[in-house]
Amino acid sequence: MVDLWLKDCKIVPENSIISIGLAKGKIVSLKKIAPRREECINLREKVILPGLIDCHVHFRDPGLTYKENFRTGTMAAACGGFTTVMDMPNTKPATNTTRAFKEKLRIAEHKSLVNFALHAGVGRLKDIEGVNKLNPASFKIFMDLLSDHELEEIFAAIGKIGDKKNHITLHCEDKEIVEKYTQKYQGKGKINSEIYADARPPLAETVAVNKAVHLARKYDLKIHICHITLQETLDIIKEAGKLGVQVTSEITPHHLLLNSSYLQKCGNLAKTNPPLRSGDVKLDLNNLDRIDAISTDHAPHTTAEKEENIWNAPPGIPNLETTLPLLLTQINENNLSFNQLKNLLCDKPADIFHLEGKGHIEMGADADLVVVDMKKEEVINPSQFKSKAKYSPFKGFKIKGMPVLTLCGGEIVMEEGEVFKNQGEFVYKKE
Ligand code: DOR
Ligand code: ZN
Ligand code: ZN
Repeated sequence: MVDLWLKDCKIVPENSIISIGLAKGKIVSLKKIAPRREECINLREKVILPGLIDCHVHFRDPGLTYKENFRTGTMAAACGGFTTVMDMPNTKPATNTTRAFKEKLRIAEHKSLVNFALHAGVGRLKDIEGVNKLNPASFKIFMDLLSDHELEEIFAAIGKIGDKKNHITLHCEDKEIVEKYTQKYQGKGKINSEIYADARPPLAETVAVNKAVHLARKYDLKIHICHITLQETLDIIKEAGKLGVQVTSEITPHHLLLNSSYLQKCGNLAKTNPPLRSGDVKLDLNNLDRIDAISTDHAPHTTAEKEENIWNAPPGIPNLETTLPLLLTQINENNLSFNQLKNLLCDKPADIFHLEGKGHIEMGADADLVVVDMKKEEVINPSQFKSKAKYSPFKGFKIKGMPVLTLCGGEIVMEEGEVFKNQGEFVYKKE
């Protein structure tokens, strides 16, 4: 009954060697020794992890496919060891009506190599209930684009649905503060990239997170704070927890591993919202035990767009192909443990977004898996990305530890950097 054995995999943090039997897209057997004469891939004691889950990607499909599409985005995901991706709604049209949501579902059902979920946007309040019936991963709100009054209306409308498993995902930068500081620096006619960190200061994040917590408490809604950057944000979340507010958080690899000096080094290629922060206020690897997830915020743009001046160039960094190698390198350097990596990229995202069968290697789980070679060394070279966006502030970083085999639903979708055809599934599909 086993279709394929993955023989002699090392599972972590236990460090034991097992063989994993796969059939019909599931894990159906876990044995010390794989039976002979059955189809098998010998992993020679390489580390195996549950397929990574990325709660935050921008695939630009439909409408902005010159930057990325669901095929190229999920090719990048497969290469980076991600087997589930959650796409953000800021496409054209925005994913904030039943029509747009269904259209994006159809696109993903054709083009996605890996499993996927869709975050919904919020446009007209009257569309929220209908969109909610289509099982979005969350409602995503960009606080940098909304007034306090609009935010309050949106929380009230989502609260009214009364769906307790539902939650709101937030980009936390306060609109008023961002506008005020941007005007101040833009008005001075400055065009050096470093100025961008000051134009969207830490205060914009802490004020927005406080507002989000206040609204979550008032309307009894779960919130997930995207790409947090500050130690202070963690303190606000901790206080919210004490008040019984359900708040989770994620951090990106760039906010974790880079600081604002990269705006000087890489110019607009390091421009992202929220901006990279200075060393004294930013989060780092020591804070990871207080953060729930690492998400890529894979946000591809064209090189031509990135060559505009600092104010006009769009924010965003493509990250699907750099995240796992960068984190495995940190494990090799003893700055991070496999346990933390699994928690932040498998267990917790599955838990927060209610992904059944994902995030764990166990009997009956989905056969979404990634094998890593902890000895493989490379230098990050964006020209080799599968993503359409072939730039990265991590260009030239030395890497030790690479994904070498990705399976999604029991099918090989990547082997040694080569991508294979597959059709991923909508993760909230009802059987
Ligand atoms: O850097 C960013 N890029 N931050 C966002 O909030 C949006 C994203 C994008 O869509 O490019
Ligand atoms: Zn954002
Ligand atoms: Zn984003």
